[in-house]
Amino acid sequence: MKKKILVTGGTGYIGSHTTVELIEEGFDAVIIDNLYNSEAGVVDRIHKITGVRPLLEVLDLCDLEKLDGFIQKHRDISSVIHFAAYKAVGESVNKPLEYYRNNLLSLVNLLSVMKRYGIPNLVFSSSCTVYGQPEKLPVTEDAPLQPATSPYGNTKQVGETIIRDTTVSDKNVRAISLRYFNPIGAHPSALIGELPRGVPENLVPYLTQTGYGIREELKVFGDDYNTPDGSCVRDYLHVVDLAKAHVVAIKRLIEGKNKANYEVFNLGTGNGVSVLEAIKSFERVSGIKLKYRIVGRRAGDIEKIWADPSFANKELGWKTLSSLDEAMKTAWDWEKILRSNKI
Ligand code: UFG
Repeated sequence: MKKKILVTGGTGYIGSHTTVELIEEGFDAVIIDNLYNSEAGVVDRIHKITGVRPLLEVLDLCDLEKLDGFIQKHRDISSVIHFAAYKAVGESVNKPLEYYRNNLLSLVNLLSVMKRYGIPNLVFSSSCTVYGQPEKLPVTEDAPLQPATSPYGNTKQVGETIIRDTTVSDKNVRAISLRYFNPIGAHPSALIGELPRGVPENLVPYLTQTGYGIREELKVFGDDYNTPDGSCVRDYLHVVDLAKAHVVAIKRLIEGKNKANYEVFNLGTGNGVSVLEAIKSFERVSGIKLKYRIVGRRAGDIEKIWADPSFANKELGWKTLSSLDEAMKTAWDWEKILRSNKI
C-alpha cells in the first residue's frame, strides 16, 4: 500500500519538484494549492514526467472548514509536506498582514487538522533567512537566529516556533524544518520550473530573463561588500537536489528514524558563490555574454551566507549532487522552453 503524502503548495516551484520525486519514490502524492502563485496545468506536466497524475484540490488552507472536509475524505494521509506560503520578501514589507495571515493561519489550521485526525508527520519549508547575517560561516543549525528583516522572514521564524511548540505539547506530532539556502534551476525534463510573477526579485530568474532579452540588463546590487569580488555571496542549490531532501525527510519521520520530535536541517551545497560568479556560470552554460551593471546595494541584503550541510549529510544521508553550472543550465533550458511557448 502506497503511503499517501499531502503536499501543500504542490503546484509551486519547490512543491512541484518534490511531488515528482515523491511519486518516483513510490509515494501517493495529493496536492492542496490555492493557485495564488502557480497553475493547475503543472499537474499535467507532473503526469508527463512521472506517468502519474497527482490529485489537485484547489483549496485555501486559511479555510479551516474546507481543509477539515478534505482531510475527512483522505483519512489515509500519513504525512504532510507544507510549502504553501507567500514568499516575496519585498512584497511582504508592504503587505505584512496578508503575509502573517496567509503564512501563519494556514500553518495553524494545518497543525490543527493534523492533531484532530492523528496525522503525525510534518516537513516544513523554512529558509536560511532565519539566520540573518551569521557571525560564523559556514552556518550550522545551532547558530543563533537573528531578528527577521521582513515580515516574510518573520513568518518563517514564527512558523518554526509554532511547529516546535506543537511537537513539545503533543508527542504524537513529529516535524522537521528544512532551512533552504538558495534554490535554483528546473527539472531536467524542462517541463516544470519556476514561474515568476512579473519582474523577478530573485537573481537566477532575472539573469535568465536578461539572457533571453526580456530584461534590458541585470543590476548587480553592490560590489563593495566584504567578499572576494565585492558582490554578495549565497549558497545556490539545484531544486531537484532540494526536492530529494524532502523525500528523505518524510521517510525519516515515517520510519521513526528521527532523533527528536522536532528537528532542523540546513539544505545547501556548502559552497559560497558570488553574484559575479553566478553570472560567469550563466555565461559558460549559455554561451551568452550577459548585459549587467553594478548598482547600489539592495536594502536588507545579507552580505554573505552559505550552509554547513554536514548535519543533513550525516543524519539524512543527503547531499547535493548537481554543480552550479548544471543547475544554471537547467534554469536556462527552462527559460528557453517558457519563452518558446511550449509550456
Ligand atoms: N541580486 C542581484 N540582482 C538581482 C537580484 C538579486 O544582484 O536582480 C543579488 C542579491 O543582491 C543577492 C543575490 O543576488 O546578493 C541573491 O538574491 P536573491 O533575491 O536571489 O536571493 P536572496 O538570498 O536575497 O533571498 C533568498 C530567498 C528569500 C530568502 C532569502 C534568505 O529568495 O526567500 O534568500 O536570505 F528569504
